Amino acid sequence: MTRIKIFDTTLRDGEQSPGVNLNQLEKLELAKQLERLGVDVMEAGFPASSKGDFDAVKNIAETVKNVSVTGLARAVKSDIDACYEALKNAESPRLHVFIATSPIHMEYKLKKTPDEVIETAVKMVEYGKTKFDQIEWSAEDASRTDLEFLAKIIEKVIDAGATVINLPDTVGYTMPREYGAMFKYIKENVPNIDKVDLSCHCHDDLGMALANSFAAIENGATQVEGTINGIGERAGNASLEEFAVALNIRSDYYPYYSNMVLKEIKRSSDMVSKFTGMVVPGNKAVVGRNAFAHESGIHQDGVLKNASTYEIITPELVGIHSNNLVLGKHSGRHAFKDKINQLGYQLPEEKLKEAFVAFKLLTDRKKEVTDDDLFAILTDIQTDV
Ligand code: KIV
Ligand code: ZN
Repeated sequence: MTRIKIFDTTLRDGEQSPGVNLNQLEKLELAKQLERLGVDVMEAGFPASSKGDFDAVKNIAETVKNVSVTGLARAVKSDIDACYEALKNAESPRLHVFIATSPIHMEYKLKKTPDEVIETAVKMVEYGKTKFDQIEWSAEDASRTDLEFLAKIIEKVIDAGATVINLPDTVGYTMPREYGAMFKYIKENVPNIDKVDLSCHCHDDLGMALANSFAAIENGATQVEGTINGIGERAGNASLEEFAVALNIRSDYYPYYSNMVLKEIKRSSDMVSKFTGMVVPGNKAVVGRNAFAHESGIHQDGVLKNASTYEIITPELVGIHSNNLVLGKHSGRHAFKDKINQLGYQLPEEKLKEAFVAFKLLTDRKKEVTDDDLFAILTDIQTDV
């Protein structure tokens, strides 16, 4: 079995979802949850984009320990410097530097010739290497790039020190067979490609992000990028919870596995939805409200006889507990603690006491305390830090 590394970009590409703007505290809480979820790499943000994002990336890099933390940089020195300053105290820092390689992007956006793009890419990887051991290099719009040119530039950035090569389907244009063929071509035509991780990064404009991610691993990708709930630029990115659950459920079919802690999925999904304000559609695979609901009489009858008739994933696998606790004025500290752990928070004893007092005060005014109420209490408590 081959391990597929999970690269989460909820805090960077996910935050690029229209209308989404996470504050520092929200990013930090999400980062801690992503660590519990067991992702291998988290892209905490784009440090050069704003002071707020720089601070958020730095804060995350200094807090999470069991995961590699990366930040995005354009192929310019000032972006790489900002990444270095934000990430230098991380346990396992990674630079993620990108440049566009498709004819459309090179001509209209970068206004550079292909040779100039190669020169810039190589120089910036060499520069990054003076500050980082791990360098992920992305060929933006790789899926609309001439394959011979793509192979040539990849060979050169590997020689310059890149340790991960990412080939994004930036505009979600490619079909699975086509995307897989690109990976196969690169595997077969780039010397030293086996010395680096090959990564896919798929957008969902035509609804192909998940299928394309599978096509990539079938053809040599060892890292899959995506976001929780599939949020992201335009129609979003590949949904990491769908990817990891599909790998797990179909281990009879695929010789691959990931280290994602599946029972942390529901909690991660709820947190992302709360903090971004992006409601998860009811029919969304794995985490949608209806993903485990059975409506038709025939299905209900089958499930009652044996759940596996219509249920290929158990709710417990992804951390959905059927005995949902309802909190009110009679609830004690134990149930309260249980519930906030379910929501993804692990508070030190002092903070827990403070949150419990705020909760009790609220129960005098409200019959039933909802998850939203709890999130509000927890956000207040955390802001006090
Ligand atoms: O979609 C994309 O091409 C990206 C790159 C910056 C990796 O998000
Ligand atoms: Zn992207």
